[in-house]
Amino acid sequence: MTELKNDRFLRALQRQPVDRTPIWMMRQAGRYLPEYRATRKQAGSFLDLCKNAELACEVTMQPLRRYPMDAAILFSDILTVPDALGLGLYFEEGEGPKFRKTVRSEADLAALNSIKADDDLAYVMNAVRTIRAELNGEVPLIGFTGSPWTLATYMVEGGASKDFANVKGMAYDKPELMHGLLSLLADAVADYLAAQIRAGAQAIQIFDTWGGSLSAAGYKEFSLKYMQRIISRLQADSDTQNIPVIVFTKGGGQWLSAIAGCGAQAVGIDWTTDIGVARGQIGDSVCLQGNMDPSMLFASPTRIREEVAAILAGFGHGSGHVFNLGHGITPGVNPDHVTAFVDAVQELSPQYHQA
Ligand code: CP3
Repeated sequence: MTELKNDRFLRALQRQPVDRTPIWMMRQAGRYLPEYRATRKQAGSFLDLCKNAELACEVTMQPLRRYPMDAAILFSDILTVPDALGLGLYFEEGEGPKFRKTVRSEADLAALNSIKADDDLAYVMNAVRTIRAELNGEVPLIGFTGSPWTLATYMVEGGASKDFANVKGMAYDKPELMHGLLSLLADAVADYLAAQIRAGAQAIQIFDTWGGSLSAAGYKEFSLKYMQRIISRLQADSDTQNIPVIVFTKGGGQWLSAIAGCGAQAVGIDWTTDIGVARGQIGDSVCLQGNMDPSMLFASPTRIREEVAAILAGFGHGSGHVFNLGHGITPGVNPDHVTAFVDAVQELSPQYHQA
């Protein structure tokens, strides 16, 4: 394997010294980039793009050509796993992801395919291998998954939801059925991540996008517990135990101590949490990732730079911070504002890493 030329991101995840704060952006490959929209058009549908290793590699590389990011993220989607389980994923223009089938009963649960990631999600592993070869050691490659709870929200609702009535109703009223679904997903996700790692992923992010919709007790029971199970599986296997894991629970700011105890090397925080306060709570045990409001990219470059300065000062001196947005970048952002964002982190962060 080629030696890594820039390991700032991996070092920061382990809270080892770095020369400046590393940065990448959730959803850094996507519709705010005109070159993404062009490749997407060429591919056909979004799923066609995910399934074509060369084109998935091309869109993974696009943000790296524009911006000096310290990591690449696999171009794929969290919903590839429920699709392989047999639910039939499709995208309705302007309405987001949808499934042809849902899981709302024991019979639905029993009807799911049993899957092996290396076979049933081979296209994802092909993309990982193609991207690793193309990166040629420039920066590390992040693999990812949705958390079992977040995947379950789409599988039970049949798509995106505002109130999560069906999935939360099931969790609170039929906890055994929900735990059956979550256990199945935790097994499938652990196998999926191990396959991504064997194919070349050098760090993993678990997107727990909808963990924050639960009550405090519900979060521990239905979301955190299953992420913990996945991480302990990875840590028990010599192939996967040295790969750092980032857990990002959107809306998880109230539960940071519990999240920091789940075994992950890093905790992603959204913009509603003060990063200095988060560091005081959990910064001695894990790395923090985040947390500029993605909507700040709609403000002027000057305002963006001020915000970057405030977040860097809020975290303070030393390693253990990976700069990111507090959630994925929004499609309407001007790509030049991203330049201002990334440049500000590069220029303003070295002063926090002097001995
Ligand atoms: O970060 C990256 O650059 C890697 C690619 C990535 C995508 N989806 C590409 C994508 C990642 C990490 C995801 C994860 C994902 N997918 C999440 C968790 C992340 C988060 O934001 O919390 C979720 C909830 C999904 C499910 C999903 N897939 C949604 C809600 C959508 C948007 C639907 C829409 O039309 O707005 C998708 C589709 C999707 N995934 C797009 C991209 C670039 C847009 C597809 C297009 O080109 O039209």
